[in-house]
Amino acid sequence: MTRLDWISEPTGTELLGEVVVPGDKSVSHRALMFGAIAEGVSHIRGFLEGEDTRATAAILGRLGVRFETPAPGERIVHGVGLHGLRGTSEPLDCGNAGTGMRLLAGLLAGQAFDSVLVGDESLSRRPMRRVTDPLTTMGASIDTHDGRPPLRIHGGAPLRGVTYRSPVASAQVKSALLLAGLYADGATEVIEPHPTRDYTESMLKAFGWPIDYAPGHARLEGGHTLRAVDVEVPADISSAAFFIVAACIVPGSLLRLKGVGLNPRRTGLLAALELMGANITVENERTSGGEAIGDLVVRHARLRGVALPLDIVPDMIDEFPALFVAAAIADGMTTIRGAAELRVKESDRIAAMANGLKACGVLIDELPDGAIIRGGRIGGGFVDSHGDHRIAMSFAVAGLVASAPITIGDCANVATSFPGFMELANLTGFDLHPAP
Ligand code: S3P
Repeated sequence: MTRLDWISEPTGTELLGEVVVPGDKSVSHRALMFGAIAEGVSHIRGFLEGEDTRATAAILGRLGVRFETPAPGERIVHGVGLHGLRGTSEPLDCGNAGTGMRLLAGLLAGQAFDSVLVGDESLSRRPMRRVTDPLTTMGASIDTHDGRPPLRIHGGAPLRGVTYRSPVASAQVKSALLLAGLYADGATEVIEPHPTRDYTESMLKAFGWPIDYAPGHARLEGGHTLRAVDVEVPADISSAAFFIVAACIVPGSLLRLKGVGLNPRRTGLLAALELMGANITVENERTSGGEAIGDLVVRHARLRGVALPLDIVPDMIDEFPALFVAAAIADGMTTIRGAAELRVKESDRIAAMANGLKACGVLIDELPDGAIIRGGRIGGGFVDSHGDHRIAMSFAVAGLVASAPITIGDCANVATSFPGFMELANLTGFDLHPAP
């Protein structure tokens, strides 16, 4: 594949308009999986047409689930029931998607057949013991390549429920165990060190599976049935994040981001930017499919550096690359701690952001679990996205206010979570184009 680099040019003009970003990645993955093993037909609207979620749909298709696509952003899922998936000897390719692989590991651990989950170069470097170890205590049999993909899941192992106190705050770990718990004897209980996004719990409930949950705790028992329901996927706040930060930092801007999912476990970026002096209001707040959604109205404001409170870190775990850019332009110093998880995302996001910002003349000290950023100005330069969609989009935002163009290497993976980002960004006033 030829490599795609981008150039983000400083524009000197404000960003204006209404923006609808694509559907939520976490909700889209889960809607496919629960629809697949439900009884009946589920209609998903607002589905993310990204490479990550399409990889999950393709895998479920290989396992015998039929999907229809009446229009882009919609899927009709013909559920096969809890025990209706069929095995395949072909490897199942999760692409770049950690969520796809970790959740499918839980789902496939409970099947009667063997499966092999593989991923791209980035996913093949990511830690999997965080799911395979607790799944093994439930009775699953999974081989890894030294704790990393591929995952060879041996089917037919009887699973038993466990109480698992997770050492990491990870919705992927929690969800993998709950998915395996559907197939287990007895109760599966997950206790988290800090509450994480609860879409698995809320969607299981919507599909009719009895589940007890509260922030940081979830418990279910095996032996029930999932009944198909329709799912409305909200716009992804993690994709909105790039426009939120862009409108905050470009003078004169006013962007309205419509129908954004505002689950409280996802809104840490809004809290962080508010502490920094941002001007963000929520309008038209409502619930859709049990989830809070609303329109975010973001106006430019002069940002100031802050010491980020530790307790909001898990609520904005995917938004740090964008926050690093806000911090780089803010007055004064921003300190980020307690975010070591960033080192095991699609790239080592602390290193990728620190090196990229340094290349643009920003004063930044990398810490094992965060960074200290001395804000003020961003220069031009060449940065490597390390094939990480969120690093690429963050530097596209940085280019808006840089003193010279920023060239961003290796941007093709933006299509994993945000197909059409460049076109949408340019409609609001970015000047973003492929490098010749
Ligand atoms: C996700 C959980 C988070 C997040 C990822 C999506 C999910 O990962 O970073 O993009 O859908 O459960 P962790 O659970 O590993 O923190």
